[in-house]
Amino acid sequence: MSAQVSEFAQYLKQSAAEVDKALDRFLPKEKTSPTTIHKAMRYSIFAGGKRLRPILALAAAEACGGDHQKAMPAACAVEVMHTYSLVHDDLPCMDDDDLRRGRPTCHKVFGDGMAVLCGDALLTESFLILAETTPTSRYKSQCFTRELAMTGGSRHLIGGQVLDLEGEGKALSKADLLKIHKAKTAALLTTSLRLGAMAVNATPAKLEALTTFGQCLGLAFQIIDDILDVTQPTEILGKTAGKDAKVDKATYPAVVGLDASRKEAANLTKKALAALEPFGKKAHRLREIASFLLVREY
Ligand code: IPE
Ligand code: IPE
Ligand code: MG
Ligand code: MG
Ligand code: MG
Repeated sequence: MSAQVSEFAQYLKQSAAEVDKALDRFLPKEKTSPTTIHKAMRYSIFAGGKRLRPILALAAAEACGGDHQKAMPAACAVEVMHTYSLVHDDLPCMDDDDLRRGRPTCHKVFGDGMAVLCGDALLTESFLILAETTPTSRYKSQCFTRELAMTGGSRHLIGGQVLDLEGEGKALSKADLLKIHKAKTAALLTTSLRLGAMAVNATPAKLEALTTFGQCLGLAFQIIDDILDVTQPTEILGKTAGKDAKVDKATYPAVVGLDASRKEAANLTKKALAALEPFGKKAHRLREIASFLLVREY
């Protein structure tokens, strides 16, 4: 590993550790009654995800000249919303997955009913955590709530999951697929960046640039998720490999093939990087993250 790579690896590790510490502080303790639900919530959160969304929130705050602490409630809120979406995504009535983040899925350990409730509780908790954000001169507290609610709801994340389920077994066009990926994945990645930036009072122009960055990066991220499902083994993914083809999911490799998918992800990453131009050196972590996501192995 070159010195530069290891310095960046250290940044990722350090940021994830900061996020984990804050999550531990925000979430109800396991002993809180009723204990089953709090155990399930903590089981799902502390299963070892990459913490990409909160790290993007923190790095966006840095790019706007702010510090991590101001953006931490927003960073934790997006991770908690993301984890809820995974718990529900894995349910037998959705993608029916047994493995997540290298461990048995929430419903495998706690049962289907408890996993539904765990997802519900995490979704609600995400807004409780977000409410810890200190408003700024440009962004009142309802700006933060509206941002997360709009992204998590039926217009974006849920809407994307609806199209994803309805797309199973159908021959979708690339345009249909783009719509699904933008909604189910790119929206929350974009909001992670926006919330982190808003927490440090970013200018509207910076917010706009981060939105473009997030939309391109988020699309690339889901394309790569689709590619990895085909190319990587279960042990590295931490989730069951080859799952998409089995249920005939509408994915990038299925619609345009692996090579074209890789090219598309690389082009989108290039576009994402171009959007960071107005930030100069301050966006160097965001640049590193975007380049890393393109070559990630899980
Ligand atoms: C998985 O997201 C779900 C998608 C939107 C592709 P991640 O790959 O970020 O999952 P974790 O958080 O690291 O487990
Ligand atoms: C999940 O997409 C997107 C969510 C909103 C949870 P996938 O279904 O492809 O995610 P994985 O592959 O199960 O992590
Ligand atoms: Mg899914
Ligand atoms: Mg899935
Ligand atoms: Mg997937």
